[in-house]
Amino acid sequence: MSSWTRSSWREKPIKQQPTYTNQESLKSVEQELSKYPPLVFAGEVRQLKASLADVVHGKAFLLQGGDCAESFAEFNAVNIRDMFKVMLQMAVVLTFAGGCPIVKVGRLAGQFAKPRSSDYEELNGVKLPSYRGDIINDIDFTEESRVPNPKRMLKAYNQSAATMNLLRAFSRGGLADLHQVHKWTLGFVSESPLGDRYKHLCERISETLAFMEACGITSTNTPNINETVVYTSHEALLLNYEEALTRQDSLTGDWYDCSAHMLWIGDRTRNVDEAHVEFLSGVKNPIGIKAGPTTTVEGLMALVEKLNPENEAGRLNIIVRMGADKIETEFPKLVRAVKAAGKQVLWSIDPMHGNTIKASNNYKTRSFDEVLREVKGFFKVHEEEGTFPGGVHLEMTGQDVTECIGGAQEITEENLACRYHTQCDPRLNANQALELAFLIADSLKAARQRFLA
Ligand code: PEP
Ligand code: CO
Repeated sequence: MSSWTRSSWREKPIKQQPTYTNQESLKSVEQELSKYPPLVFAGEVRQLKASLADVVHGKAFLLQGGDCAESFAEFNAVNIRDMFKVMLQMAVVLTFAGGCPIVKVGRLAGQFAKPRSSDYEELNGVKLPSYRGDIINDIDFTEESRVPNPKRMLKAYNQSAATMNLLRAFSRGGLADLHQVHKWTLGFVSESPLGDRYKHLCERISETLAFMEACGITSTNTPNINETVVYTSHEALLLNYEEALTRQDSLTGDWYDCSAHMLWIGDRTRNVDEAHVEFLSGVKNPIGIKAGPTTTVEGLMALVEKLNPENEAGRLNIIVRMGADKIETEFPKLVRAVKAAGKQVLWSIDPMHGNTIKASNNYKTRSFDEVLREVKGFFKVHEEEGTFPGGVHLEMTGQDVTECIGGAQEITEENLACRYHTQCDPRLNANQALELAFLIADSLKAARQRFLA
């Protein structure tokens, strides 16, 4: 740990990186970025860590969600607003049903770099380097587009700054008003084919808001009803970018990766002796680690030790992504080992990345039922092990896309072609995401009651 510097990752083996041919341009971009203002402030990062510590203690729940990959082309205010809206709607449903605060963390304002299962992509006999996210190369299937260009990091920074700015404005400027958010949800419920299932919960929220108002608690006199905090996060994959935005906090002298509040390490780059773990071991942000079916008990314990040697609650979030078929067989041994060692971690479930399938018409998709089944399996394991299911991690959008099959809208394989817009993995659309929140609300309530009893 004492040998850590912002650039000590460069001495370690590293996976999933672009090969930049123009090293001079890379250097000049890195220098420029390191002069740019940080996107987040260390004090905010510490607040998020404190909120995540509450989750570890069963006093709150984490909702982390957003695009698989943000894109330069889809960057506009409507997309950001709609993502913000659906996150708040989900949060209200979960807060009310679960009886606890929801810590909201977007996969946004920096979620640009993608790990790929193959370095090359082949189409009609033509083989080109894979698309690695807009921060690295272009998705167009041409030789020129796929050349990694360091200047794209500057564009990603600027887009992240503008996204962050709008989020902060929405959070404090009135769009987060609880009455407004609840009105949107009522609209969803009245249109949803399964609306009756959700009506009762919504009626109780309406009654509660009316009661609060009658007691004089209104959005004009109570900021909590009118404001919110949405934190940002992304996979810390492109370390040239992360290093350049890593700064020493003037108040504490500690290092923070100021590209986002929270960063995570992907399932393909979580080797304890490699660059990504080295880099994140030295910054103080809350850190996520993806844990897929190849995660071993020894491997996970080594990561927990390296990334959270002081066993600080709120520092480490293990994001489980086993797939619906494996959650109940592969996950229990990890929970048991961490619990037996007395390690403080936040467990959350990513029910997306273990459930990606190919539809018969070749679209990459996910089934809503399988997503729900993995979440339920995750809650069940925690019930059996006496631990707390701390959060969900979702790929979702505020738009009405057709990328995942199922849900109350009954999206079929044939429907996928209608509005399949993702740059990378299939996302839950706004209705599917909100529906999921309704369907897990009761499990959250039961889990909290059990855990705190
Ligand atoms: C992701 O979260 O976008 C991702 C690539 O996940 P994983 O590393 O778990 O495959
Ligand atoms: Co993804």
